[in-house]
Amino acid sequence: MGLAGRSVIRVDDFSPAEIQHVLNVADDMHGRLGERLDLLAGRILATAFFEPSTRTRLSFESAMQRLGGGVIGFADPTTSSAAKGETLADTARIIESYADLIVMRHPLEGSSKVAADYARKPIVNAGDGGHQHPTQTLTDLFTMQRERGTISGLHIGLCGDLRFGRTVHSLLGALRHYDVKVTCIAPNSLQLPERYRPDTLNLDTTERLEPVLAELDVLYVTRIQRERFPDASEYEKVKGVYVIDAELLERSKEELLVMHPLPRVDEIAYNVDPDRRAAYFGQAAYGVPVRMALLALLLGAVSSDGVPPPEEVAVVVEHEPRCPNPDCANHREKYTVPQMLVEGETRRKCGYCEMELTV
Ligand code: NCD
Repeated sequence: MGLAGRSVIRVDDFSPAEIQHVLNVADDMHGRLGERLDLLAGRILATAFFEPSTRTRLSFESAMQRLGGGVIGFADPTTSSAAKGETLADTARIIESYADLIVMRHPLEGSSKVAADYARKPIVNAGDGGHQHPTQTLTDLFTMQRERGTISGLHIGLCGDLRFGRTVHSLLGALRHYDVKVTCIAPNSLQLPERYRPDTLNLDTTERLEPVLAELDVLYVTRIQRERFPDASEYEKVKGVYVIDAELLERSKEELLVMHPLPRVDEIAYNVDPDRRAAYFGQAAYGVPVRMALLALLLGAVSSDGVPPPEEVAVVVEHEPRCPNPDCANHREKYTVPQMLVEGETRRKCGYCEMELTV
């Protein structure tokens, strides 16, 4: 069956071979951007965006239209029935009767999983709170591969808000499949939560960018995620901690790639834009061929037969307690059934938001 008909909720939903297959198909799509393609003629994509977006939604819509398909959706949840109190499960079941695939962004962690549990059509997570953003990761990997020719061997610095930055959480989930070195550069209060740190990855942490900058092949900068701070004064303490400017870049490798999922606030100065190391606008543009590839594969218009899927891992799941994380979909949507993955006697991991707890 391959990728056809599957949902994409976390980056772990792909095997390493499947990730590479998506990137290969994206390469092909990239070379055909000027052509008229009818691969998805007659198919409909729905974009359900409950949080702001420019790149993700428009690149998905552009991708679908470039493949000959149609698009419906909303970008302002106050105009959808969620504003009347409709549950995620109901919204998903209604939208799937109007479309062949749903791309969803929502502030709750695990929200896409809820949609996928109730809908039969593929759901693609375009960002679920501070949890994951797997299609951004495909775009990030594609950027590295095209601009550097390889991902393995790179020393990648992740800089900024590693606590709430969902693009970083997904990226790390994919980087564990490559032979890379990762340095997490963040103030202590914004360092990477333990649950997003793959134990097989060569990873270290620091608060200071300057001492490591000269060693990096990729500097992946993120915005401090103001909207996810429980307390505004905490944001005030860390805003503007890192500013990458032309002067700082003089201390980096000539062939450094400066990446950013965008939008930027003030963490990359405008005087970096003309520098050949600035890869972020190209990275945003790569979102179109990557999402073309993903849509074509999930809707079965391009084959993924024979590509090995993720290994099945046997897990024991308990249906209590409800997840205590207030930003988790299981906590907030009361009809959802807790899915606690059992990790030893007292350790549990929420199947929606991945938060670990002791019972
Ligand atoms: C990111 C997101 O929404 O997580 N944007 C994107 O999709 N390119 C990054 C961000 O909002 O900071």
